[in-house]
Amino acid sequence: MGLTIIGCGYVGETLARRLQPRRPSLDLTLTTTRQERQVALSHLADEVMICDATDPEQLLKSLQKTHTAVFCLGPKGNQQVDEEGYRHTFVDSFRCLRSLLPQLPQLRQILYTGSCSVYGDANGNWVDETTPACPGPGHGSVLLESEQLLGAINDRTVCILRLGALHGPGRDLNKRLKNLAGQERQGEGNTFTNWVHVDDAAGALEAAVDGQWSGVVNVVNDKPIRVRELVEQSLARQGLSPVQWTGGLEPQSSGRRIRNHRLKQLGYRLLHPNVHQSGVFSTNQVP
Ligand SMILES: NC(=O)c1ccc[n+]([C@@H]2O[C@H](COP(=O)([O-])OP(=O)(O)OC[C@H]3O[C@@H](n4cnc5c(N)ncnc54)[C@H](OP(=O)(O)O)[C@@H]3O)[C@@H](O)[C@H]2O)c1
Repeated sequence: MGLTIIGCGYVGETLARRLQPRRPSLDLTLTTTRQERQVALSHLADEVMICDATDPEQLLKSLQKTHTAVFCLGPKGNQQVDEEGYRHTFVDSFRCLRSLLPQLPQLRQILYTGSCSVYGDANGNWVDETTPACPGPGHGSVLLESEQLLGAINDRTVCILRLGALHGPGRDLNKRLKNLAGQERQGEGNTFTNWVHVDDAAGALEAAVDGQWSGVVNVVNDKPIRVRELVEQSLARQGLSPVQWTGGLEPQSSGRRIRNHRLKQLGYRLLHPNVHQSGVFSTNQVP
C-alpha cells in the first residue's frame, strides 16, 4: 500500500515518524517544497518528492502510485499569513487535487488536517461536528471553503480532521506563555481554548487511515481550557509571577468548547487527554 504525506511540517513529520515501524510493507512518500527539507526527511521515507500542491505536474507525480493522500499543509513562513496566503495554500491546492482526480483512479483515500477555527465564536458553548460551521470572514472562511472542496469529492473516502491548537515538543506552551509573567491584561481571560498534542494529531490520522474514517472529525483533547487558567497554571509551574487581569471588556470573544465524542466513538484513545497531563507544563522548568 502506498501513502503520501503532502506537507511534512509539525504534524506531517510526526505522522511520518509514527509510521516508521510499518515500513517497508507501507510504501511511504513525503513531500516538501524545499530542497533542504528533502535531504532532512530522506531517512523517513521511501521517497521524498519536491511538490508544491498547487502545481498540477508536481502533485500528480507525488500521488501517482499512492492509495492514500494525507494533506498536512500549512502556509509557509514564520509570520502571520493573511487570508490570501491561506487561500493559496489550501483552496488552490485542493482545486488542483480535484482537477487531477480523473488521472488518479488508484487514489482511494484523502485525509486533511483542517482546523476547529471553522466553528467561529459560539459564545463559550459546546460545539460538535453537527454544529454548522460559522467562521465569519477571514482565515476561517477560507478553511471552510477548503473543506467544502474536499467534501464535494464523492468517489473517494474523504476525512477532514479538525485539529485544535497544537502543542508538544518544539511548541512548548510554557515557553510561549512565560513572557506574560507579571503583565497586566485586559478582561478576565475567559475565552475558551481547545488544544491537541501533536502525538494525538498524528495518532488520529493513523487511526483514520486504518479505519477508513470519513466525514468530519474533531481532534481535540477532552478539556477546553480558559485562557486565564491556561496562563495561571503555566506561570505557577514555572515559578513566575501571575498575570494581573484588569477586568473590563474582554478583548476576545468567549470562543467555543469543542466536543471530541466522534473521535472517541471511532475508537481513538487520547494519549494526552488534557494539557496538564501532557507533560507540556514540564516540571523540570520549575526552579
Ligand atoms: N498549528 C496549529 O496549531 C494548528 C491548529 C489547528 C489546525 N491546524 C492544521 O494543521 C495543519 C498543519 O499544521 P502544522 O503545524 O503541521 O503546519 P506546518 O508545521 O506549518 O507544516 C505545513 C507544511 O506544509 C508545507 N506546505 C506549505 N505550502 C505548501 C504547498 N503549497 N504545497 C505543498 N506543501 C506545502 C510546508 O512544507 P515545506 O516548507 O517543507 O514545503 C510546511 O512545512 C495546519 O495548516 C492546519 O490546517 C494546525
